[in-house]
Amino acid sequence: MEINKNISIDAVTDKILHIYSKGAVQAESFAVEAGLPVEGTLQKITAEGEDGGIYATKSLEIRMHSDGAMDIYDRDGRLLCAEYTGERAVQQDLTEEEREQMRQEGHAIYDDVGNCSFQVCKCLTGDEVIYGLGDKTGFLNKKGYDYMMWNSDNPDPQVENQTFRAMYKSIPFFIVLREECVYGIFLDNTYRSYFDMGFESGEYYWFGAEGGWPDYYFIAGDTIADIITGYTSLTGRAPLPQMWTLGYQQSRWSYGSAEEVLEIAKNFRKYGIPCDAIHLDIDYMDHFKVFTADSKAFPDIKKLSDELAAMGIKLVTIIDPGTKLEKGYDVYDEGIRNGYFAKDKDGSVYQNVVWPGDAVFPDFTSKKVRDWWGGLTKRLTEKGIRGIWNDMNEPASFDGPLPDDVVFGGDGKKRFHKEVHNVYGHLMAKATYDGLREHDGRRPFVITRACYSGSQKYSTVWTGDNQSLWAHLQMSIPQLLNLGMSGMPMAGTDIGGFGSNTTPELLCRWIEASCFAPLFRNHTAKYTKKQEPWQFGEEVAAINRKYIELHYKFLPYLYDLCYEQTKTGLPILRPLVMHYQRDRETWECNDEYMVGSKVLAAPVVQQGAAARMVYLPEGVWVDYWTGERITGKRYIVKEAALDVCPLYIKAGSILPAYGKMQSIEPENIDTLILEYYPEKKAGRAGGVSRWEGSSRYEHYQDNGVDFAYEDGEYNLYVFTFHAMRKNGLQVQMLHEGYGRKYKNIKAVVR
Ligand code: GLC
Repeated sequence: MEINKNISIDAVTDKILHIYSKGAVQAESFAVEAGLPVEGTLQKITAEGEDGGIYATKSLEIRMHSDGAMDIYDRDGRLLCAEYTGERAVQQDLTEEEREQMRQEGHAIYDDVGNCSFQVCKCLTGDEVIYGLGDKTGFLNKKGYDYMMWNSDNPDPQVENQTFRAMYKSIPFFIVLREECVYGIFLDNTYRSYFDMGFESGEYYWFGAEGGWPDYYFIAGDTIADIITGYTSLTGRAPLPQMWTLGYQQSRWSYGSAEEVLEIAKNFRKYGIPCDAIHLDIDYMDHFKVFTADSKAFPDIKKLSDELAAMGIKLVTIIDPGTKLEKGYDVYDEGIRNGYFAKDKDGSVYQNVVWPGDAVFPDFTSKKVRDWWGGLTKRLTEKGIRGIWNDMNEPASFDGPLPDDVVFGGDGKKRFHKEVHNVYGHLMAKATYDGLREHDGRRPFVITRACYSGSQKYSTVWTGDNQSLWAHLQMSIPQLLNLGMSGMPMAGTDIGGFGSNTTPELLCRWIEASCFAPLFRNHTAKYTKKQEPWQFGEEVAAINRKYIELHYKFLPYLYDLCYEQTKTGLPILRPLVMHYQRDRETWECNDEYMVGSKVLAAPVVQQGAAARMVYLPEGVWVDYWTGERITGKRYIVKEAALDVCPLYIKAGSILPAYGKMQSIEPENIDTLILEYYPEKKAGRAGGVSRWEGSSRYEHYQDNGVDFAYEDGEYNLYVFTFHAMRKNGLQVQMLHEGYGRKYKNIKAVVR
């Protein structure tokens, strides 16, 4: 609905408003791809001045001021979000001489925020916290910091400072939580954009972009979960993964030969450590030419993948977008022949330098190019490759950044680099996903480093080049939680740290801290110490084994959360605040997380620590290791020797578990164990503990491989367990469509 000459508002639902300027109408969204339902009704209630007026949906009221500013209320009259119309705080500026002096000492000076073509400025009330914004460094609460959305490859140590305003991913979505309300804002704009979350002034926050139009969504709800569900109803949700992709994965830049890869695989089996995949980093290629293999080091990838498959291990390969500029290399030749690469402003093919040296960049804004690229992945799947890891797709370039005016022809819809930079990785992931889906038939396993809002539909992500630093282990928790709240549930960090050398202690604490991560991959850089689980002796290997086994044990729980996510968009790893929103103590909890709603993990992330404080929210919690029942809404001190990651199960929960396995083969899983964690003991009878209570749990099962579930080939169970009754387990089927059911379903009281 046109509100005034600048602004239109549509009610996507009664709680989601699409607020945009006229120009945005022609813009095609890269994130909201399924089209927008306009299901809500927006009505003008009163007129106020020329441009003002009050508009309302069933849930929200928008009060327009005559100057175009808008305040959004709920229908109870509570002000959710007010436009800031006061004076802007002007930062003290430096003279050019002072700047030069700073630069000479190596300080980075940023003065680029002035280039916005629009800025939207909203009031801060003082009591809020802000979450989301993708993979940004720092803490869970983004308030007080400023960020940039410009997909960037920067391997320097990442911390919560100004240098890292931009990271690999651009997810221009955030959630504002206040004592009395919560809302989200998604700026659907792919240009370089800025999010100043109260850095400039404590009175307001603002966001803006260097191009495009104001085009954003205001998402209301009662809970953080509502906001995430709303956001993912627009941008999509992660489809169910192949089950094995949830398993442990081992990587290194780079395993240098087929023999080395086999050796690594054999070691996993020798040490009895579960493992589902090994990754081949760039050196498997022939001179870094994508979709080729080095004929000396990897003469027969099919044979290698078959040998690994016999050990239950899959092969995943890296694919970068930078395509080697070399006449006679068929991918290059074909791309040149068909005009598939991005062009310089003079019409010649644009080139820069990446791993292969001189390289050109596929224009993924073109469907033709995406189809071509997707087709090329067949060369890998034919050799038994089971997953594709997309890297350097910001796109990274070694010979300076791509100029703003590099042209992406996009099937006749010409765009410049400055507009599509932030969706380059997104479109590459989409090309890879679509290609794999079409010719492989299994659920595509794609990992991407760069992405945009909506990439969750196509890809898992990892947080890029972290370092083996305790600060980065600490940061991995809020980073994954904010990614999850930004609609990106399938995520992980390089376990052990990528750059610099890990230590035995750090590797142990990292595997513990990641033990429920949906992407569970140890990866490290070329020049670093080896960091496979057995490289530091038996104690470290045993700790790795313990937590990798724990991850596999709770695989059905993780898979159930993946299923739940397809319905709600809720992440697998969640900040405590998502389930205990009324408890302020949880709002800035950076070093604990929930797995679904039933498990709380409080990893040790301090070097040398053998104990830590743990905040347990309200209710009773069962210490996973000791069985102790602890009443929450308080801090406790938990002793945690090197092999202990403090874990708590919400009393009253059922958790589904599988028996031990070395790799995930859903077709061989016959037994499901239901662990019931009751709140209290009813006493002892005949020397045996008796427990009270009952619980209910919904469980999803399918073949874990392909899309048959879309045709109803899945089972949805409801288990009800009464601890006091003999044979107290009841099994009901809500949906019965998958023929291979469990042979045994057992309940145990923990
Ligand atoms: C980039 C990636 C890293 C990879 C390396 C070599 O730094 O982030 O994961 O190992 O390139 O391909």
